[in-house]
Amino acid sequence: GDGVFRYYSDGEWKASASGKSVPIINPTTRSTHFKVQACTQEEVNKIVESARAAQKLWAKTPLWKRAELLHRAAAILKEHKAPIAECLVKEIAKPAKDAVTEVVRSGDLISYCAEEGVRILGEGKFLVSDSFPGNERTKYCLTSKIPLGVVLAIPPFNYPVNLAVSKIAPALIAGNSIVLKPPTQGAVAALHMVHCFHLAGFPRGLISCVTGKGSEIGDFLTMHPSVSCISFTGGDTGIAISKKAGMIPLQMELGGKDACIILEDADIDLAAANVVKGGFSYSGQRCTAVKVVLVMESVADKLVEKVNAKVQKLTIGAPEDDCDITPVVTESSANFIEGLVMDAKQKGATFCQEYRREGNLIWPLLLDHVQPDMRIAWEEPFGPVLPVIRINSVEEGIHHCNASNFGLQGCIFTRDINKAILISDAMETGTVQINSAPARGPDHFPFQGVKDSGIGSQGITNSINMMTKIKSTVINLP
Ligand code: G3P
Repeated sequence: GDGVFRYYSDGEWKASASGKSVPIINPTTRSTHFKVQACTQEEVNKIVESARAAQKLWAKTPLWKRAELLHRAAAILKEHKAPIAECLVKEIAKPAKDAVTEVVRSGDLISYCAEEGVRILGEGKFLVSDSFPGNERTKYCLTSKIPLGVVLAIPPFNYPVNLAVSKIAPALIAGNSIVLKPPTQGAVAALHMVHCFHLAGFPRGLISCVTGKGSEIGDFLTMHPSVSCISFTGGDTGIAISKKAGMIPLQMELGGKDACIILEDADIDLAAANVVKGGFSYSGQRCTAVKVVLVMESVADKLVEKVNAKVQKLTIGAPEDDCDITPVVTESSANFIEGLVMDAKQKGATFCQEYRREGNLIWPLLLDHVQPDMRIAWEEPFGPVLPVIRINSVEEGIHHCNASNFGLQGCIFTRDINKAILISDAMETGTVQINSAPARGPDHFPFQGVKDSGIGSQGITNSINMMTKIKSTVINLP
């Protein structure tokens, strides 16, 4: 056709009446690779209304049938891992192998979700009245979990498939319908993923995927009166959404400044390996990336030396070649990262490598002797640039971690498990990893942030529960 990927509404692939499209720029070539429809508010309206109608029937579909369809979608998704991964390579410059892993992990997530759903939604509670003072045993309360309605899923560019299904699968198993608004970079991968749900045979209108400009349809979607829940992963936009949203449950994950605290008794080889993996995988474009290293001065030289040796070995280049470091997602992102680097340079940070950039490709960079007056001590680069702050006490490390606006995850390296647990308790973050880099998975683990890092908790079980509400029926005996 016209080369513009269609959006998905009412079980059909449609071209927008706007006649307009949104270009998807390949981060590596920096030229337009795909185009998607620029949907109108009217089209969004239609999608949300058909999602509302489809949900009513879906809620009455037996749980085991919902699970069966999800298992089918998971299998189809895995069968199509190669073309979907290829989109991730072109749209978001994800290294080729990681792109395949993202799709496979997503299939596993959908299946796990179906299994978890049939268990936890297959049981409710039974309460009796006489445990509360003044009551006889005359009231029996039955509770079950019922769906919320239409769930709006907004995933970010860094996992357009995985962070979409981590919202879609729990919503569907719980009896909700889904409106997906994929990120522009990653929209075509998301449309392919949605096609797998289409092939699995879900009812028309139950799942839709709307593409377009945030400026045109963003607020319209998030403030739509028929949307009953928003699950969002991304940046600052989430804060604006939470302020404008109606009285509906919100699940938000909005980035972090995950600290890696390294004590004197740490296994420095293990710490260095995790600093590199945590700081530089997918070029640092993960909410859970290590974003600041807080190392005890006495072991700092040794750590920095080992980290530098590993940074030296990272491959830099095209995602097609499965390089470790690939171009960051947009030119404006690269410019932002460069701004943080220049600020650190001007304020006297030690550059362990020379700063180098070609287009959106930024060479991995470790900045030592970073001071609290530097922006990079606090801001999230979302790129392959990692600051090291040398500390003289554990308290200093905890203090820096807790002074951040973010509180997603953190990690501690020490051989003293008692100390590790005390530090974990003191860190104001959603999760603390002991002796490993921060990470969301395995995907059934709870995943949450405090402060500006988010609202609510994710992970398969928590997401299913969050996308339901309790309904009680009380039997009053004579
Ligand atoms: O950046 C998204 C966040 O959910 C990280 O996931 O799997 O890279 O820890 P992961």
